[in-house]
Amino acid sequence: MTRISEIIFPRVTGLVITCDRQGKPNIAAFSFLMPISFEPKYVAFAVSPRRKTFENLREVGEFVLAIPPMEMINRVWACGTKSGREVDKFTLLGLETRMAKAVKPPLVRNMPVQLECRVELFKEFGDHWLVVGKVLEEHVEKLDFQPVLHYSKNVFTTVSERMVVE
Ligand SMILES: Cc1cc2nc3c(=O)[nH]c(=O)nc-3n(C[C@H](O)[C@H](O)[C@H](O)COP(=O)(O)O)c2cc1C
Repeated sequence: MTRISEIIFPRVTGLVITCDRQGKPNIAAFSFLMPISFEPKYVAFAVSPRRKTFENLREVGEFVLAIPPMEMINRVWACGTKSGREVDKFTLLGLETRMAKAVKPPLVRNMPVQLECRVELFKEFGDHWLVVGKVLEEHVEKLDFQPVLHYSKNVFTTVSERMVVE
């Protein structure tokens, strides 16, 4: 059967930073990701209950959504293939953190865009859970960057052209 990720693509890949009750942070890749509302800003993503990220969200209902640039694709891949249960991805990938303003999970240094969010809805749909987060703080350092566009499994694409419709 065709996977849903092979039907709806490409999808912007985000990095979701969470932390457990003790404050230990984790970072993982998510491409089942969408904006929901302009004002106030809301975002949503779908997380499998097998992820450490899922456990963390249950313990601390807050996250930081970072949108990484294409130059980070190898680190994005590692964030999406290794679990925080086995490895500290911040140390492994040399990702430096700094305190967020409104949430417990930290921000990551040198990310073009980061949104501090509080979970307002966490609900099971099939094999994933929908997470809806209200954006409490936003950090936009740069907007002219190539996002990491995910197709399925280990296949990605890039934005090649911007078109304006008259
Ligand atoms: C590009 C990419 C996108 C991914 N998107 C999702 C997603 O939307 N939802 C999900 O549950 N897992 C997704 N994954 C898988 C998780 O990132 C992966 O299982 C990760 O190891 C989970 O880490 P954690 O256990 O530390 O939370 C994706 C992986 C990659 C490489």
